[in-house]
Amino acid sequence: MVKIAPSVLSADFGALAEEVAKVEAEADLFHVDVMDGHFVPNITIGPLVVQAIHRRTRVPLDVHLMIQNPERYISAFAQAGARYLTVHAEVCPHLHRTIQQVRETGAKPGVALNPSTSLHTVEHVLDQVDLILLMSVNPGFGGQSFIPFVLKKIEELARRLQRMDPRPELEVDGGIKIENCRAVAQAGATILVAGSAIFGAPDPRAAVVKMREQVA
Ligand code: DX5
Ligand code: ZN
Repeated sequence: MVKIAPSVLSADFGALAEEVAKVEAEADLFHVDVMDGHFVPNITIGPLVVQAIHRRTRVPLDVHLMIQNPERYISAFAQAGARYLTVHAEVCPHLHRTIQQVRETGAKPGVALNPSTSLHTVEHVLDQVDLILLMSVNPGFGGQSFIPFVLKKIEELARRLQRMDPRPELEVDGGIKIENCRAVAQAGATILVAGSAIFGAPDPRAAVVKMREQVA
């Protein structure tokens, strides 16, 4: 079954606990976008807010670090309650070491790739991670359009992962809507992240239910 991870980036930050409560019965994970104003142009959430969300929900947190030098903050985000802790390959010259560092905290390590970053970057660490995140927009903002060439990349990665046991999750993030979620799932995604399609909808819970029907 494909999992759905609402991204709180598109929630009302002034009422975060209520926003989380609206969809929590339907969410498999909450996706939390951490941005530093360096790796990406935007600045968002730190460990304190991750901890605040963690205290308000039992749903596991899927923390997406879009930051330079992620190794400096791994233990803080793990302690804040991250179940999955994902770093970007583009900012990790010692990716294998960084993955081990996440593993040592007890969180599940993930690696993210920007749309233009080759799958070869993660070839040698596929069996070290619990999740690979393929960005389907250039990271930094919610509400962007899905970049079509990423569908082929999802298919290619899904083919490689098929032979693995245990098999890491293949998460796709950016521009996923009710209209295209089925195609993304059919390409091989196992976790769909959606921000504006869920928190921008008049009824966020109903939006998750609709998305689930599409990918069932
Ligand atoms: C973008 C973030 C995404 C964002 C997705 O940089 O990584 O998680 O919340 O938002 P939508 O679903 O609106 O594209
Ligand atoms: Zn994200």
